[in-house]
Amino acid sequence: MPPMSSPEPLQKAQTLVASGMEAVERRIDEALRSDVAMIPTIGRYIVGAGGKRMRPLILLLSARLFGGASEERMAALGAAIEFIHTASLLHDDVVDAADERRGRPSANGVWGNQASVLVGDFLFSRAFELLVADGDPDVLQTMAQATNALAEGEVLELARSFQADMTQQQCLEVIERKTAVLFRAAAKLGAIVAGAHQHAEAMAGFGMRLGVAFQLMDDALDYASAREEAGKPVAHDLGEGKITLPLIHAMRRDPELSERVRAIADRGGYADEAERIWVRERVQRAGGVEATIAEAERFAAEAKALLPEGEQKARQALAQLADFSARRPF
Ligand code: FPP
Ligand code: MG
Repeated sequence: MPPMSSPEPLQKAQTLVASGMEAVERRIDEALRSDVAMIPTIGRYIVGAGGKRMRPLILLLSARLFGGASEERMAALGAAIEFIHTASLLHDDVVDAADERRGRPSANGVWGNQASVLVGDFLFSRAFELLVADGDPDVLQTMAQATNALAEGEVLELARSFQADMTQQQCLEVIERKTAVLFRAAAKLGAIVAGAHQHAEAMAGFGMRLGVAFQLMDDALDYASAREEAGKPVAHDLGEGKITLPLIHAMRRDPELSERVRAIADRGGYADEAERIWVRERVQRAGGVEATIAEAERFAAEAKALLPEGEQKARQALAQLADFSARRPF
């Protein structure tokens, strides 16, 4: 397995826009307030669990690239994007019956499915309250489209679950919708709030490709990393019906694996723990992880090539975030 990059680019980027990121954190905290106690309790539990805040970070850096924007406005939009992301994770962990997220028991594991879904709904609607308060039709349209695509992506993934003959293209289609669209929206919003409308599409393209790289790494890490590193269940994607790129690549090279995966898909899950470990090892041995990382690196390179000229430090940080997405250790 090739060496992973350190989390350093992430920290460097966060330092560059530190005051803006602190404003995002304050806005998140404020927007989590509700007199229905379960909302701030569960909201703070999941939002405060130390996510990477990649999406607000990309929004801020993208705005800085084109000369910046009002800190207050960016904080509200950053909080809105992080809320939509968090709402999707709350729902996703219910759909996937996951018991761990960000290194601790998942919200559904602690409070149950109903509370998780409903607090997810709150975060989602609070996000749109923040967006409506911003009022810019371009912002609203970008976010509404992204959220539609996000929900479609998750439904598409469900509809295609346990389809062992899934192609790379079909797999990428799901990834673009369920994950990359929110990165796309974050990068595009940065250009919009900075008034650089002529660069909005290039930034959308940058965010989309970075987002694909990010999810491809997530899919690679599912087969490559230990649970302690990932902070969430690993080697579970196939068990949940997800036919991801490491598996697709490995199945092409290993007919015995391919045959076994078809049996697992027909059965609707692993027969036992030994089978799960066997699949994980065969995927690793057939180079499925490396091939997926290589694919992620191609998307990161395409993302970087789309970055318009602008403020140098922001440009460098965005480029490094694209590389980090394709080689992140967690
Ligand atoms: C994680 O994928 C899931 C997503 C990136 C998107 C989830 C989207 C929804 C549940 C629908 C939209 C909902 C709202 C409220 C807008 P994964 O399961 O592959 O990753 P994981 O390993 O981190 O769980
Ligand atoms: Mg999941």
